[in-house]
Amino acid sequence: MHFAHVTLDPAAVVAPVNRRTFGTFVEHMGRCVYTGLYEPGHPSADEDGFRTDVLALTRELGVTTVRYPGGNFVSGYRWEDGIGPRGRRPRRRDLAWRSIETNEVGIDEFARWAAKADVEIMYAVNLGTRGVQEALDVHEYVNQSAGTYLADLRRANGAEKPYGIRMWCLGNELDGPWQLGHKTADAYGQLASATARALRAAEPGLELIACGSSSSSMPTFGAWEATVLEHTYDLVDYVSCHAYYEEHDGDIGSFLACATDMDHFVDSIVATADSIGARLRSKRKMQLSFDEWNVWYLSRYQNQAQTHDWRVAPRVIEDEYNVVDAVVVGNLLISLLRHSDRVTAACQAQLVNVIAPIRTEPDGPAWRQTIFHPFARTAALARGDVLRTVVDGPTYQTTRYGEAPTVDAVATHDVVTGEVAVFVVNRDEDVPVELTIDLSRFGLVVRTVEASTLSDDDVRATNTVDHQDRVVLRPNRQLSVHASGVQVVLPPVSWTAVRLSVEPTH
Ligand code: AHR
Repeated sequence: MHFAHVTLDPAAVVAPVNRRTFGTFVEHMGRCVYTGLYEPGHPSADEDGFRTDVLALTRELGVTTVRYPGGNFVSGYRWEDGIGPRGRRPRRRDLAWRSIETNEVGIDEFARWAAKADVEIMYAVNLGTRGVQEALDVHEYVNQSAGTYLADLRRANGAEKPYGIRMWCLGNELDGPWQLGHKTADAYGQLASATARALRAAEPGLELIACGSSSSSMPTFGAWEATVLEHTYDLVDYVSCHAYYEEHDGDIGSFLACATDMDHFVDSIVATADSIGARLRSKRKMQLSFDEWNVWYLSRYQNQAQTHDWRVAPRVIEDEYNVVDAVVVGNLLISLLRHSDRVTAACQAQLVNVIAPIRTEPDGPAWRQTIFHPFARTAALARGDVLRTVVDGPTYQTTRYGEAPTVDAVATHDVVTGEVAVFVVNRDEDVPVELTIDLSRFGLVVRTVEASTLSDDDVRATNTVDHQDRVVLRPNRQLSVHASGVQVVLPPVSWTAVRLSVEPTH
């Protein structure tokens, strides 16, 4: 047994928990939209063709914001293809994923789905093959109330009220050579700034997101953000971050520590943004929108011959997640919460089928992948303020990230309800950890406590169509309450949520 200790202090507040931390991403890619959230003719489909089994799982997952419609897809997308009578919508080539886009689902359908799922839309405009005018046009269509050509077209298409979309991504990953319309940082910075000015002229209160690097391994990482922010600092509210992690060559130890890389990523972009802000003598603090993050076995995808040429809704990157992946996803959420003072929006990529917590079969069931569980539990329990959470515990050596803590955790505290939640991982592959959570600084008594843990003797176990609940969260009974706090045993390779309620002694 290893031992670790964490002292929580209700005064050590990092920032409020941002509900937008629990965002997700729906791209017109593979089977995310078609046979994912939309499948007319499916036994569970509603009057709009939306799968109600997927809607129910989306609500259970607790997602708040949904980035739409891409991704790489958006950089070649014509939004107006997806409006008006379905029979007249064009089928188009999607060059990003070499698929056929039928345009059966467009912004009107997606807005209806988002209202049913009770999520906020984060809309990405095409700054790859398009520019300022098209961004203004889609904005007029979705947000102008009435009395202009595109607002009235939306009304004629059945949506009397505007959608009131507040968050707008100015393009997607334009630093990447794979991106349609890939640009230099300078060219993108100029286009993003012109688009931001135009959108703000239309609606000053929008929240705008400039593209940051598509990963920290890009050769232009950091320099890209610096140049883009020099052009846009006082015009945008966020710079985006994207990161995908995977296990390489069976190196579970490094993979389990990849949240340390996310920590470093965030700290680097905060430092870069603040240095531009200082140089421009701006009083604004740039926020980070971590609007693509997840586990993605990208190298497997890159090594495979792509067989989905020019088909509708092919099976693309339908990664099946195991226990280690779920622990990593839980840990990445710990990292995002820890940075809640600067990361104020985030989207796990993606929602259904495509590297997703929810899987479906056409005409068949929908089920929860392993990674569904830490996300849903964190979204449900993280309330109030994020507390600075420093773990005193063992460390281990990793090949990729050097020395890393064996235990990583973050806590939240809701002063209104007295609820405290602690989210914690044990990265050790063999040895359990006894974690002591010291609550003496609260000066209160622990009334109730419960813990649930995701772990398994087989860390490669997955949830499949035939065994949909092979890996779930289970109550952790190795939990005890003491005068000054609680102790919980964390199994090897595990993610745990501890929920406590604290109250005055009298
Ligand atoms: O989420 C899959 C893809 O990853 C997105 O389309 C792109 O933005 C990123 O590279």
